[in-house]
Amino acid sequence: MSRRNQTFVCQNCGGASARWQGKCDACGEWNTLVEEDDGTGRPAGPGRPPRKGRRFALEAMAGEAREAPRLASGMAELDRVTGGGFVRGSVILLGGDPGIGKSTLLIQAAAALSRSGHRAVYISGEEAVAQVRMRAERLGLGQAKVELAAETSVEDIVATLSEGATPRLVVIDSIQTMWTDAVEAAPGTVTQVRGSAQMLIRYAKRSGAAVILVGHVTKDGQIAGPRVVEHMVDAVLSFEGEGSHQFRVLRAVKNRFGPTDEIGVFEMTGLGLREVANPSELFLSERDLGSPGTAVFAGIEGTRPVLVEIQALVAPTTLGTPRRAVVGWENSRLSMVLAVLQAHCGINLGGHDVYLNVAGGLRIMEPAADLAAAAALVSSLANAPLPADAVYFGEVSLSGAVRPVAQAAARLKEAQKLGFARAVLPEAARAEAADPGLALHPVGALVGMVSEIAARGEKTGGNGHRREPEDG
Ligand code: TYD
Ligand code: MG
Repeated sequence: MSRRNQTFVCQNCGGASARWQGKCDACGEWNTLVEEDDGTGRPAGPGRPPRKGRRFALEAMAGEAREAPRLASGMAELDRVTGGGFVRGSVILLGGDPGIGKSTLLIQAAAALSRSGHRAVYISGEEAVAQVRMRAERLGLGQAKVELAAETSVEDIVATLSEGATPRLVVIDSIQTMWTDAVEAAPGTVTQVRGSAQMLIRYAKRSGAAVILVGHVTKDGQIAGPRVVEHMVDAVLSFEGEGSHQFRVLRAVKNRFGPTDEIGVFEMTGLGLREVANPSELFLSERDLGSPGTAVFAGIEGTRPVLVEIQALVAPTTLGTPRRAVVGWENSRLSMVLAVLQAHCGINLGGHDVYLNVAGGLRIMEPAADLAAAAALVSSLANAPLPADAVYFGEVSLSGAVRPVAQAAARLKEAQKLGFARAVLPEAARAEAADPGLALHPVGALVGMVSEIAARGEKTGGNGHRREPEDG
């Protein structure tokens, strides 16, 4: 009886199944189940003698709690997202589409650390050492004291790193290329990715080195997504951006040692990633002043105010089901705003295609963007440009009321700093703005703002896009 524990593991979600199936029960993907060893190497079934547990001491909750020792990378935008630097012995997973700039970011971070005298090791499983060197030279980091290797065996990597001084930072690029002898599965499979990650995490905890694992996010089931690793690591960072834009946003999806709502903003240049300390200026740099359908949203990302343009296009359609397309915002949020516009403001967009876009490739999560989105939509429909010096923020409730949002003062301050002269904001937020330095236009109900914008469209002779008064 030496039958091994064979299971079929979905290469998309990591779900396990006892027999092969065409479709994964867990995630619904087709042809993703692959036979894998469970990695224990033990025979299946009962009859395995139970191990006697070792006793350990339990500790009281009351006790000294020390701040996790951190090591700042020196890249302010990166440190902002990690919560102040890499924590000793912690493991970070950096995910992102291929080609977004993960390797570039990490070679820059490793170089910054080595510049301040810390040992940093960069292990590439995808590129040869010469390629990594070439990239570093292009970035002007040819002389950095980063130690390089092109290796994929986790055992060899751990053995090498365990010698000499413990590195402060180890970059593994990428986890999908790593493999360990402990698991009998092909590199790139979920089992291998999980096994390799486990071993590297154990190394980090034991040695105190901070380890960053790079993980590609692919939509097809070929390469195991790093989803399974997300639960094992201390922090998950996601590097995002639109292919056509130079902006890259680093976001913490999970962080055991810091906040998850901060973003770091970078710009991809010919000389690598440049930190963007003032994202508002960047996001507003290509503004199309005076055209209908654009509104500037005064948002907050973590602790930092970010001003960004929201663009809407509302056009009559001949389709039975009109199109609703959103980039950078939630689809459900747009549907909600459209429903409120219809129910409480008499604006029926059932015969119109609606496109909404957040400029610069930023992704907005805040409900505070409702008011700016509504303003942009109505502005496009009425063909009435909004004032170029106005910012908008406020949450729209299902009853059509405009509700207050957090940090109104910080939003107004940023708007003033960037030369805006007025703000359209929730009625209830007015009290928070003690000395705003810009004209306030408080809105109690959405319909008030909508009729004001529509009236402006009539005055400027807004054309055929305007809604005919069809409601009773
Ligand atoms: P890379 O870091 O290799 O991406 P990833 O590791 O996430 O797959 O970045 C690759 C892209 O970045 C590539 O399309 C070229 C671009 N790039 C620049 O624009 N400037 C640079 O200085 C570098 C190094 C890369
Ligand atoms: Mg890479």
